[in-house]
Amino acid sequence: MKNGVLSLLVAIFLIAVGGFSNAADKEIDAAKIFRQKCSYCHGNGGVGSSTAPAFIGNSFITEGDPAAIKFVIENGRKEAIKRAESQKLVPMPPWKGRLKDAEIDALVVYLKSLNK
Ligand code: HEC
Repeated sequence: MKNGVLSLLVAIFLIAVGGFSNAADKEIDAAKIFRQKCSYCHGNGGVGSSTAPAFIGNSFITEGDPAAIKFVIENGRKEAIKRAESQKLVPMPPWKGRLKDAEIDALVVYLKSLNK
């Protein structure tokens, strides 16, 4: 009986540990990060808003060097540039230190994929 309880506990422990390591191995969900951290300025799926530019049909994204896109995501742009009359002036915030390096890399790939 005692052994039965012990092996049950061991089994529960193994399932719990397995569950955690699966979560750690999970691939980065760039679309989810984008929805949570970027879409309120850049619009759902990168369509843009009165605050921030669109990524769809944006040559900085379509033709841009991935390293240059990454630089903007990491460092932001302190000076907000008004591109349209309807645009509110909000600067692009820097994400370095708030997102992991691998998450920023995944976002660059995601932004480019929006145009395909
Ligand atoms: C508070 C609003 C805001 C949030 C949140 C935000 N951005 Fe921005 N982003 C901007 C603005 C405004 C610009 C335009 C900056 C400029 O050129 O002056 C910009 C520009 C950019 C650019 C350059 C686009 C271009 O055409 O030059 C990239 C790339 C970018 N953002 C990526 C992201 C990503 C990825 C996230 C989420 C991790 C994000 N942004 C979150 C406001 C925001």
